[in-house]
Amino acid sequence: MHALRNLAGNGKANAFGVWISRRLSYVLGIETSCDDTGIAIVDTTGRVRANVLESQQEFHTRYGGIIPPRAQDLHRARIESAYQRCLAEAQLKPEQLTAIAVTTRPGLPLSLLVGVRFARHLARRLQKPLLPVHHMEAHALQARMEHPQQIGFPFLCLLASGGHCQLVVVNGPGRLTLLGQTLDDAPGEAFDKIGRRLRLHILPEYRLWNGGRAIEHAAQLASDPLAYEFPLPLAQQRNCNFSFAGIKNNSFRAIRARERAERTPPDGVISNYGDFCAGLLRAVSRHLMHRTQRAIEYCLQPQMRLFGDTPPTLVMSGGVANNDAIYANIAHLAAQYGCRSFRPSKRYCSDNGVMIAWHGVEQLLQDKEASLRFDYDRIDIQGSAGFAESHEEAVTAAALKCKWIQPLG
Ligand code: KG4
Ligand code: ZN
Repeated sequence: MHALRNLAGNGKANAFGVWISRRLSYVLGIETSCDDTGIAIVDTTGRVRANVLESQQEFHTRYGGIIPPRAQDLHRARIESAYQRCLAEAQLKPEQLTAIAVTTRPGLPLSLLVGVRFARHLARRLQKPLLPVHHMEAHALQARMEHPQQIGFPFLCLLASGGHCQLVVVNGPGRLTLLGQTLDDAPGEAFDKIGRRLRLHILPEYRLWNGGRAIEHAAQLASDPLAYEFPLPLAQQRNCNFSFAGIKNNSFRAIRARERAERTPPDGVISNYGDFCAGLLRAVSRHLMHRTQRAIEYCLQPQMRLFGDTPPTLVMSGGVANNDAIYANIAHLAAQYGCRSFRPSKRYCSDNGVMIAWHGVEQLLQDKEASLRFDYDRIDIQGSAGFAESHEEAVTAAALKCKWIQPLG
């Protein structure tokens, strides 16, 4: 069924004798970089054996945002029971695990610490290799778990989440090349702040939803989807960077103007919030499309030959990839260039333990950085972290002018 089954099935001992054999190997993944405690077990064929996810959304919604020390307390209180539930769900004993993968970077340092300390302790006790995982890399590789044959290295990836927005060429675990990134806010962050300012959370159906999900749903209620227009960010900059702060500030201004005009009470929502959300989604889609289009054209330049003669495969991942309207536009753009496009299943677009475990599987199969694996104390957290290589300057120097593909609908 999976290409990786063959890879694993041949039996291969790496530098530290971790035997990836005909017998299945199981990797435990631990994710605590932000406000979700995710623990999962994935085997070397890409089958998910257990997936436990404890969200802190309900708590943080009450306070209007994540309070890092409180997020840390909640991770601490939940991590052991999440681990026990994960083992029970997989029907495995701890000794049967092959390796332990954990998010070490980037993320909220207090949250990362809980996962890394737990993973270190576990790895030492079980004498298993400990695999450090870059959170954004894990988002980027996740779609390969479900489409191993279709998504080979290298591929182009748009990462859009609550903390990041990046375009990268993915050559393998630890081998990502940055083409562009956000200069200010991330799109998910903008959605969350705008959703909060709109006060969507006071509508019962959106009470426990993140801003992006609520805005996506509200946009479907629009009766005049063209009522709001937003200026296009970075229109003069011919690179692959992003900016969402302008869209956010324009949103705040438009909401305030509407509230004044219709005298919205302090605990109310503007009457045409659906129209507003449709305009916002269109603006974000267009910006993501433009920068991704330039990235595709950059990769396709004859002198680059990043992907040989074939059009690059395009993957979108991160929490914002849950958005059907945005993803449909990205897939539409890709199709115009003959590129195939993929995103992970929705349950794996947002933060979860499966993507961390899967990154661990990819590391085991590629035998990367093996020397770190039993040196538990060398594995530590990093609040911010980039990628191995950057083509940002080359992208800017190329200054490619594109004939824009129009969004759908
Ligand atoms: O990847 P993720 O779970 O966490 C980070 O690594 O940041 O992404 C979370 C972000 C949130 O900001 C949320 O607003 C956004 O993903 N998001 C969405 C949708 N679902 C989640 N944005 C747009 N549309 C959605 N359906
Ligand atoms: Zn994430």
